[in-house]
Amino acid sequence: MNILILGAGGREHSLAWAIKQNPKTDRLIVAPGNAGIARLAECADLDILDGAAVVAFCEENAIDFVVIGPEAPLAAGVADATRAAGLLTFGPSAAAARLETSKAFTKDICDACGAPTAAWARFTKAAPARDYVTARGAPIVVKADGLAAGKGVVVAMTLAEALAAVDDMFAGSFGQAGAEVVIEEFMGGEEASFFILTDGTTCLPVGSAQDHKRAFDGDSGPNTGGMGAYSPAPVLTDTIADQVMARIVRPTVAEMARRGTPYQGVLYAGLMIADGRARLVEYNARFGDPECQVLMMRLGAQALDLLLACAEGRLADARVAWAPDHALTVVLAARGYPGTCAKGSRIQGLDALPEDSRHMVFHAGTAGRDGQIIATGGRVLNVTARGATLAEARARAYALVDRIDWPGGFCRRDIGWRAL
Ligand code: AMP
Ligand code: GLY
Repeated sequence: MNILILGAGGREHSLAWAIKQNPKTDRLIVAPGNAGIARLAECADLDILDGAAVVAFCEENAIDFVVIGPEAPLAAGVADATRAAGLLTFGPSAAAARLETSKAFTKDICDACGAPTAAWARFTKAAPARDYVTARGAPIVVKADGLAAGKGVVVAMTLAEALAAVDDMFAGSFGQAGAEVVIEEFMGGEEASFFILTDGTTCLPVGSAQDHKRAFDGDSGPNTGGMGAYSPAPVLTDTIADQVMARIVRPTVAEMARRGTPYQGVLYAGLMIADGRARLVEYNARFGDPECQVLMMRLGAQALDLLLACAEGRLADARVAWAPDHALTVVLAARGYPGTCAKGSRIQGLDALPEDSRHMVFHAGTAGRDGQIIATGGRVLNVTARGATLAEARARAYALVDRIDWPGGFCRRDIGWRAL
């Protein structure tokens, strides 16, 4: 079959890598893609936020299956457009993607279905929000309701910080995303991410992961999109996973169906785990980046069968064949990330690296120029490896990192420390 993946990051490179290995794949196109993706798939210049343009492209290229990677096209209703055109699609409708695009919506769903999460309140004006924060005291969490590229959350350890965050959001620092603000109880514990495929009815877990959000070693420095990840997450034991499915995931999926907006795609549940109990931090309507890279490394070619079963409503008959192993990815970012960073620096040494079922360098932000690979800024490479143990996966990943010659980049040296 002919498959189109939408997106340009390491997540989409890993999806393409796994899908390409499946014999069902004939033609594989990624739009817009990047220099790493171009080594294994065709890349196409396409406005992936324009549903009509995506549909027209699919018709011109006889696409049988569309896989939507990032949240922006989901929020823009691209899955609605492709489904309306009769195209088999992996990814939720814009209405179902509200589980990611509105924090207050997710909180309402949790309340409606009894899913455990932090106590919360929503505000559309600064004064009552300030009063609420003052009455509750710190630590407390202040969130812009809408999509804010992962930056709309302030975990305030002091009252002053919380009040400043409230003022900031209502002053428009996140634009429309901050027109409504959600204020939450601070939850302590250990975070993990849990990924569940659902066709709207059946829910099938496809793995757990933990990522490292801070830029520097020892979980210090500014928040980022993620500096590395590993799978599985030891904190998400079978008992806790069963509890999450029973109390959070299945009730959410049932509530979405009851409302007439069934959720189809991958549901990414961000969890806080403490004292043997998991609570929901947030949902995302897509795979995590870089969490997807470690999941794909472990799933390999069967990922396509699972995504197809999800899109075709056949998950009740689907099974995941797990290798009892571990995967770990280290993000190489351009110096300066997550602030402004230079673009265009040359990366060398990639051609000499192994690329097989145990080692893979996924590209997140690269382009080709005059036969060279250059960094296009932000998170640039995801150096990923598998091993029988997490320690082995980590040793393999850092051995690859050390062979990459890129003076313009940096990485954390302690990915996986919590689990090791
Ligand atoms: P979110 O975008 O909602 O995932 O929030 C980003 C990060 O903020 C999460 O990954 C957590 O580390 C932290 N966070 C969000 N909500 C809470 C909460 N209620 N208590 C503690 N930490 C939180
Ligand atoms: N790595 C966090 C995310 O994809 O949202």
